[in-house]
Amino acid sequence: MPNINEITRESWILNTFPEWGTWLNEDIEREEVKKGTVAMWWLCNTGYWIKTENNTNLIIDLWVKTGKRTHGNGLMKDRHQHIRACGCRKVQPNLRAVPVVIDPFEMKTVDVVLATHDHSDHIDENVAAAVCQLTDSSVKFVGPKSCTDLWRGWGVPEERLVTVRPGDTYTVKDIEIVAVESFDRTELVTVPYEVESLEGNPPDMFEKAVNYIIKTPGGNIYHAGDSHYSNMFAKHGNEHKIDIALGSYGENPRGMTDKLTANGILRMAEGLNCQVVIPMHHDIWTNFKADPMEIMSLWKMKKDKLKYKFKPYIWDIGGKFIYPDNKDDLEFNYDRGFEDAFTEDTDLPYYWIL
Ligand SMILES: [Fe+2]
Repeated sequence: MPNINEITRESWILNTFPEWGTWLNEDIEREEVKKGTVAMWWLCNTGYWIKTENNTNLIIDLWVKTGKRTHGNGLMKDRHQHIRACGCRKVQPNLRAVPVVIDPFEMKTVDVVLATHDHSDHIDENVAAAVCQLTDSSVKFVGPKSCTDLWRGWGVPEERLVTVRPGDTYTVKDIEIVAVESFDRTELVTVPYEVESLEGNPPDMFEKAVNYIIKTPGGNIYHAGDSHYSNMFAKHGNEHKIDIALGSYGENPRGMTDKLTANGILRMAEGLNCQVVIPMHHDIWTNFKADPMEIMSLWKMKKDKLKYKFKPYIWDIGGKFIYPDNKDDLEFNYDRGFEDAFTEDTDLPYYWIL
């Protein structure tokens, strides 16, 4: 029985977070991926775990931290990307809206770590520390220069770092990773504090962010990072077979466009010629939260007229998606349990209360 004299703030934190403990770590480790399929788990925001039929385990954009936790002085730091993007000054109320569903320090089977860009909700020193502590140096950290610079700064050994630009590929066991152009304009205006002005000094986007096509024996996954809408999605769709497309969706506040709208998600899917399109990122920030059923409504409205060949899939964090098994499901639901109800007699003496 707990004793309040032994309970501290620290004991509360250790006993409560991460909220899902090792439940999902155990699920992922136990999953045996059938031949010709690929398994994915949404870990929140744009973070995923991908597992293949040959037990290759890839994590991308895994981030287990928080957003704002205090009002501070109520202002953003000078030259913040949002100040540059829309001339605002007040600190953004981006509080984390969902639990942490994975324990990074129990991730024993990771084969490769990917990051799309260096924004703080896509790359995480805790994940880097856990992977370095749990795996040998054959497990690489793959990302654009902005990410490998960060990982190096945190102490990730040089032999683990693989810097990619659009067009580069990296192969790990049965997965081929292809880096392609990112269309994340918020990242484009994120430059170090020391850079006073971007005039005559355009950032090299190829060093800042990439999108990925993750090619597995069970299907190819396009990860759009925090890309905005681009005509180039059609080029990527022409050049690569894409089965599943992941795009960052959100309800953009007035004066700011940081995420794809519902219509942008559908246009991205059309451009990429994918089978399934899955919105991401709308779960995480209190100030960009969006209802992904908006995508479903628009898809239903347009699919016959525009002859859509893809379907949306509306997911929840911590959930599993198997391609192609779940490609026509449209919506995810958590395991409701109780499938063994009345497989044995209850010990109640009065059945009439049931
Ligand atoms: Fe983001």
